[in-house]
Amino acid sequence: MDWSLGEVESVAKARLPQMAFDYAQGGAGPERTLAENVAAFARYRFRPRFLVDVSKRDLSTRLLGRTHPVPFGLAPTAFHRLFHAEGEAGTARAAASRGVVHCVSTLSTTALEEVAQAGAPRWFQLYVHRDRALTRSLVERAKGAGYEALVWTVDAPVWALRERDRRNRFSLPPPLKLANFERYLDKAGGGADGLANYVNSQLDPSLTWDDLAWLKDVSGLPVLVKGLLTPEDAALAVERGADGMVVSNHGGRMLDHVPATLDALPGIVQEVRGRVPVLLDGGVRRGADVLVALALGADFALVGRQAVWGLAAGGEAGVARVLDLLREELDNAMALTGRRSVADVDASLVARV
Ligand SMILES: Cc1cc2nc3c(=O)[nH]c(=O)nc-3n(C[C@H](O)[C@H](O)[C@H](O)COP(=O)(O)O)c2cc1C
Repeated sequence: MDWSLGEVESVAKARLPQMAFDYAQGGAGPERTLAENVAAFARYRFRPRFLVDVSKRDLSTRLLGRTHPVPFGLAPTAFHRLFHAEGEAGTARAAASRGVVHCVSTLSTTALEEVAQAGAPRWFQLYVHRDRALTRSLVERAKGAGYEALVWTVDAPVWALRERDRRNRFSLPPPLKLANFERYLDKAGGGADGLANYVNSQLDPSLTWDDLAWLKDVSGLPVLVKGLLTPEDAALAVERGADGMVVSNHGGRMLDHVPATLDALPGIVQEVRGRVPVLLDGGVRRGADVLVALALGADFALVGRQAVWGLAAGGEAGVARVLDLLREELDNAMALTGRRSVADVDASLVARV
């Protein structure tokens, strides 16, 4: 493997069936937000400072009671066995080997207990289901398997309209399954029906902020609210007791025509005033992108598609390579901008062009 972060998507594309590639690469509607997420990073330039002693650099950061070796982790992404036979277990082994936090999707194709065996620092992404007993059971299983936080995805009260998936009649090819649900649902199996039935029957459009207290109560775990894009919702998240939030538009995959996450970030950071951590995902393709997000006030970044492409390109080793390249690029950009540590990164590091 000698691909760079600029090449990993095309390496993945060459290895994947069209349906799987489109599912991961694509977004909602006309995919404006998908493009914006990436374009937003290109609107910033660094303002490097020199003659700073950068001989010793520290990329680590504290978040939710743990020191993370790098200020980024793996965003929750569904269906890893669609991208490589090693599936979520391969991703988790790569994360474990680098000490990077892995947020495991509710919609994993490997049961959450099996993914946990790799020993990576781990969070569990949750869709709160109509069936609260089922949700509670999932949460209890995650807690029992050593997941350290819940990442509650709130930007999907109903499912997205994804034109590529419609065109391709996207479905989980058998024998792939929604592995976390096998014990509850008859139709957790592969095939278009299983997936569509699951999504339609289980997403709960009646969820409100009141459900956050319930979730905190039943889990006893820190809860990060994922999918916020406005200071108004950020204020509610803090008020209602969220332990943090992920500024996210689901990688442009849920509602199109919303702002790039990088553009939504500063207003949210201003509203939150450091009371809880603010994470960002969407459009992070390079180590330098992580640095731009930190400069605009994010405490941590999450990486979605790049890790999926790494998995498709080389299983565990491919994900590890993506993590190593992101780290190398971030370290290099910090040294070349005169920043020794994450604490040295502030808004003076970037200018908007
Ligand atoms: C293939 C794929 C599957 C995803 N599955 C989920 C999911 O199950 N739950 C969730 O909250 N977000 C999911 N997301 C969204 C990611 O968590 C994240 O918000 C997004 O990928 C970040 O943007 P990026 O891909 O530009 O890094 C998925 C994204 C992709 C690309």
